[in-house]
Amino acid sequence: MKISVVGLGFVGLSLASVLASKGFNVIGLDVDVIKCKKISNGIVPFYEPDLKQVLKNGLKKNLEINNNFLSIKNSDIIFITVGTPQKSNGAIELTIIKKAIASVGKIISKSKKNPIIFIKSTVIPGTLENTLLPILEKESGKESGKEFGLISNPEFLQESTAIRDTKFPHVIVLGGTEKKYLKKAKIFFNILHPNIPIIITNYQTSEMIKYANNSFLATKISFINQISSICQNIPGANVDDIAKAIGLDSRIGKLFLNAGPGYGGSCLPKDVKAIMNFSLKTGTTPLFLEAVEKINEQQIVNIMKLIKKNCGNLKGKNIAILGLAFKPNTDDIRDSISLKIIKILLKKHVIITVHDPMAIENVKKIFKNKINYASSITNVLKNSHCGIIMTAWPEYSKITNNHIKNMEKRVIIDSRRILKNSKLDCNYQAIGIGS
Ligand code: UDX
Repeated sequence: MKISVVGLGFVGLSLASVLASKGFNVIGLDVDVIKCKKISNGIVPFYEPDLKQVLKNGLKKNLEINNNFLSIKNSDIIFITVGTPQKSNGAIELTIIKKAIASVGKIISKSKKNPIIFIKSTVIPGTLENTLLPILEKESGKESGKEFGLISNPEFLQESTAIRDTKFPHVIVLGGTEKKYLKKAKIFFNILHPNIPIIITNYQTSEMIKYANNSFLATKISFINQISSICQNIPGANVDDIAKAIGLDSRIGKLFLNAGPGYGGSCLPKDVKAIMNFSLKTGTTPLFLEAVEKINEQQIVNIMKLIKKNCGNLKGKNIAILGLAFKPNTDDIRDSISLKIIKILLKKHVIITVHDPMAIENVKKIFKNKINYASSITNVLKNSHCGIIMTAWPEYSKITNNHIKNMEKRVIIDSRRILKNSKLDCNYQAIGIGS
């Protein structure tokens, strides 16, 4: 069986590597020639734990990386994993996926196989039926359901656990109309992931499942952040004990109840905005999601208030930012709250020094010499009037008095509460802990 994966980002490269390491013949396709060269040499173009090893295993077996669509001719299965970025109005940009689908259509026009095309990219309800299917039929000259099958198959993997999530997804969602192809798809996924529940539904519902999933995750985070803000005004209250207690109620569940600076990353902010935009178009005002988003923005205001309260006039002050990636174990800074805080502080003429174990190079491309870069925790804090912990990197939980001894003023603002139990000789302020 020949499987092709079109688009080698977090989702596509993880999938191609895992499938190849399991013994399938896989073509990983990306239009970026430089990226393809790196991947062919076993280099992962971003940081994702375990991916390098799985990629190497895949390359040793039957993984071929190519930038030419001709390479995917005669595939039995084609996964589309290209990005669907955000437009300024919150809607998603379909240019990349439309182009990829048109190329796939042209290739399958010459194919001897009747392939199944799985759309893993996140797209708003109606996209498969109204946009992608017509392009495929036009470019291939073939009829959907007869000579090829188009199936929605949303992806739920998290960055930093991409390999685990690709190998062991919690659910497989298959959205389509063509029974023959859905049956084939079910057999394929049953072999790939025995014992994982498979939900079979239509296109629109499948597309909506992904948005419902991500907006619910964002909801949990904004909920606990709202509780966290209330806690901050109750002396002695601690949001983590509250999250632990309510998380033990199985109706609530313990995951995604970590209060913090707000959700960032390449998916939650984008997907919440896209579904809000879509909701308005369908005639439903997304009141609930508006609140989820507002609370997320409010967390930045909360952090700024803590900085001002403890540092006074910010002009000319040295502030240290610890953590730039949107979460630990990644170098991804897309929609990272750290970067938003840096932009606000720069406008207030603050002298900023930053530290991150993985993401510094990506941040340099954005802020260049507008901020300073430190390679150690001691150096980022040296001479600062305040240190702000933004990402829960494990090394930050090991900060001691030795690291903070050369601060100009010993103020630590901990947006993740990872130092809440360490008895540091400093003015310690944390999101979600009442003072
Ligand atoms: C998310 C979804 O979890 C995943 O299912 C989907 O496929 C893609 O989007 P990801 O973007 O990798 O995954 O990050 P995630 O782990 O969900 O974290 C998103 C943001 O929420 C981060 O900024 C993180 O710090 C924040 N977060 C998460 C919290 O503040 N508290 C939590 O309890 C959990």
